[in-house]
Amino acid sequence: MKKKKMIYEGKAKQIFSTDQDDQVIVHFKDDATAFDGQKKGQIAEKGKINNKISNFFFKLLEEKGIKTHLIEELNERDSLVKKVDIIPLEVVMRNVAAGSLAKRIGMEEGEPLQQPVIEFYYKDDDLGDPLINVSHIELLGLAGREELERLIALGHKINDILVKFLKERNVDLVDFKLEFGKTAEGEIILADEITPDTCRFWDSETKEKLDKDRFRRDLGNVEEAYHEMYKRITGQDWK
Ligand code: TMP
Ligand code: ASP
Repeated sequence: MKKKKMIYEGKAKQIFSTDQDDQVIVHFKDDATAFDGQKKGQIAEKGKINNKISNFFFKLLEEKGIKTHLIEELNERDSLVKKVDIIPLEVVMRNVAAGSLAKRIGMEEGEPLQQPVIEFYYKDDDLGDPLINVSHIELLGLAGREELERLIALGHKINDILVKFLKERNVDLVDFKLEFGKTAEGEIILADEITPDTCRFWDSETKEKLDKDRFRRDLGNVEEAYHEMYKRITGQDWK
């Protein structure tokens, strides 16, 4: 399958049309941004690593009965996926207090949550992706009640699968972000990516951060963290 035209460019990925109306190609870039694009940089080979990691997780989830947009990996940076209408919500699942949750409700970063917490952020750059609740989602017509229940159930199921998988690899899944899309047939499937850009991964023993927080917070060893997560997830050295 060949790329035709770039139809969308985001901060870390580009989307291209193909010969098939219902399929698009995702291209993973090395660009990294944080804080609504105020901080910009590059992480060497991130695009290649994230393409692999995201596809690995999507295949794992497919095996467990979660439908995803993934069709096939085309090359180091490109994957063929089903074209969907993205539901403009970032679904964040949390197992440990960190980042904006720790700040918002005054918890210490690293404090485990008694049960997973789910949050919705409205994907709207002009508004700065605000946290919104179920009433807001219904008010804005972003998802109907049944669809919302589906998103919540999928969020928890994906969290359970990933927490278990990563725990066995000595990684705490602190929190992560999901995006879902609707196919032409109206089915809700997992889209976007699951990578160190969109998750907080902490070493279970040392609590060392192995994700994009190393870039956001200028902690150094950014590339090394992505390599380490590639190794923990796939069992293979990064090159
Ligand atoms: P937060 O603590 O900053 O709200 O982030 C929660 C999780 O969501 C964290 O794993 C990083 C991920 N995330 C994204 O993937 N994209 C974003 O734009 C933001 C703000 C967070
Ligand atoms: N990627 C997002 C941005 O550029 C936020 C983040 O991941 O921290 O704003």
